Amino acid sequence: MNELAIHGGAPVRTTPMVTTGPRFGEEELQELKEALDQQTLFYWHGAKVKAFRAQFAELYGVKHCHMVTSGTAALHVATATLGVGPGDEVITSPMTDQGTVIAILAQGGVPLFADIDPHTYNVTPESVEAQITGKAKAVIVVHLAGNAADMDGILSVAHKRGVKVIEDCAQSYLCWYKGKLAGTLGDIGCFSLNDFKHISAGDAGMVLTNDDALAARAQLCLDKGYARDGQGRRPPFLAMNYRPSELHGAVALAQLRKLPAIVEKRNMLGDLLTASLKGVPGIHPHKVLDGCKSSYWFYMGRMDPKTLNVPRDEFVAAVAAEGVPVSGGYIGKMVYEYPVLADHNAYENCSYPWDGVYGRKVSYGPGMCPAAEEVEATSWRCPITEHMIEQDVRDIAAAIKKVAECFAAM
Ligand SMILES: Cc1ncc(COP(=O)(O)O)c(C=O)c1O
Repeated sequence: MNELAIHGGAPVRTTPMVTTGPRFGEEELQELKEALDQQTLFYWHGAKVKAFRAQFAELYGVKHCHMVTSGTAALHVATATLGVGPGDEVITSPMTDQGTVIAILAQGGVPLFADIDPHTYNVTPESVEAQITGKAKAVIVVHLAGNAADMDGILSVAHKRGVKVIEDCAQSYLCWYKGKLAGTLGDIGCFSLNDFKHISAGDAGMVLTNDDALAARAQLCLDKGYARDGQGRRPPFLAMNYRPSELHGAVALAQLRKLPAIVEKRNMLGDLLTASLKGVPGIHPHKVLDGCKSSYWFYMGRMDPKTLNVPRDEFVAAVAAEGVPVSGGYIGKMVYEYPVLADHNAYENCSYPWDGVYGRKVSYGPGMCPAAEEVEATSWRCPITEHMIEQDVRDIAAAIKKVAECFAAM
C-alpha cells in the first residue's frame, strides 16, 4: 500500500490548493459610485438598499425583504418581531454562531438547545419537539453550512404547539428544500452578508417574510421603532437601530448578481466530494436530505475512530500531511458551553433572564446535546469554494481515501 505522507511517503498533492480569490471588482465599484453620487447614504432616501431589498425578495419569491446591519441583527429583528419577551423559551441548535444566541438573549428569551442529526448536523423534528414546553415561543432552525434541515417535520411539531419558526440561513444561500428555498418555509428567514459568507457587504443581513403584519413590525424593530409611514415618530416599544447604509446596499446589489454562479459551483463541487468518498471505510460524507440541494458553505464529514483505529486528530493530521486543507471539527465547543450561558452571565449584576422571575434556571454545560458533541469530536472539515476546481476535490477525496484505507487495515 501507498505509504502515508505523515510516515515519509509521497503526498497525494504537492502543489498548494487555491481556495480563495477576488470577490469584489468593477461591479461593486460602479454601484458604490452610484450610491455616493446620490449625495445621500441614508437607506430610506437612496435607491440602493431599496433595489437590493426588491431583488432579493424577487430571487426568493417572497413579499418582503428588509436589509439590516448584520445576520445577528436580522435574527434579533426576527425574535423581536415575533414577540419573544422575558422568560420566553427559544429553541435552537448547539452548533451555530453566537449571533443566533444573541438574538434570543437580547429579547430576554431563554435559549434551549435541540440536539442535531449526526450526519446533516441540523436540528430534527424529534429533538425540537423534546424541548417544547408551555413557555416555548419560537424555534430558530439553523441550516448549517448550506444544508437544509428537515423542515416539514420541524414546521409540523412547532406550529402544532403554536411555536413560531425562524430560519437562520446565514450559511445557506440558495439552499433548496424539496423545491422550496430555505428562508421561505418558516415565519421569518434571516441571512448574513458578513465577510465570510457566500456573498459579502462587509457586514449586513436580511429578514424575509411573506406576512404583511410581521414585515411592518420588523420595520419598527430595525429602525428605532420608526414606521417611516409619513405619520410622524411614535416608537411603540424599545427597538434598535439596525439600519444599513446605501454603501451596504450598493455592494450587496453587485454581489447578488454573482450569487447563482457561486452557489452552482459550490453545489457541484460538494456533491462531487460526496460521490468521490463513496465506499471509503470509516468515512461518512456530509449528508444532504433527499430532495434537497446544499450550497456548501463548507463541507464537513465524519470519521469513525473504531473502524479507522485512530483518534480524529491523528486522522486529520495524516490527511493534511497529504497536502490538502482538511482540519478537525467546526466550533470546538457547543455554544451552551460558552461562559455567557454556562455562567448565566448575559446581563450585569444579575442572572436575568434565568432569574426565576422571568425564566427557567436552565443549566448549560457539556452533555446537553450528546450527538452534537460526538459530531464535533469526530468530524473533519474542508473548504468548498467557487475558486476551487474539480481536481482539488478529487485530491481531497484521494487523500482521505488513502489515509482511511491505510488506518482501517492496521
Ligand atoms: C449560523 C449563523 N447564524 C448567525 C450568524 C451571525 O451573522 P453575522 O456575523 O452577520 O452577525 C452567523 C455568522 O457567522 C452564522 O454563521
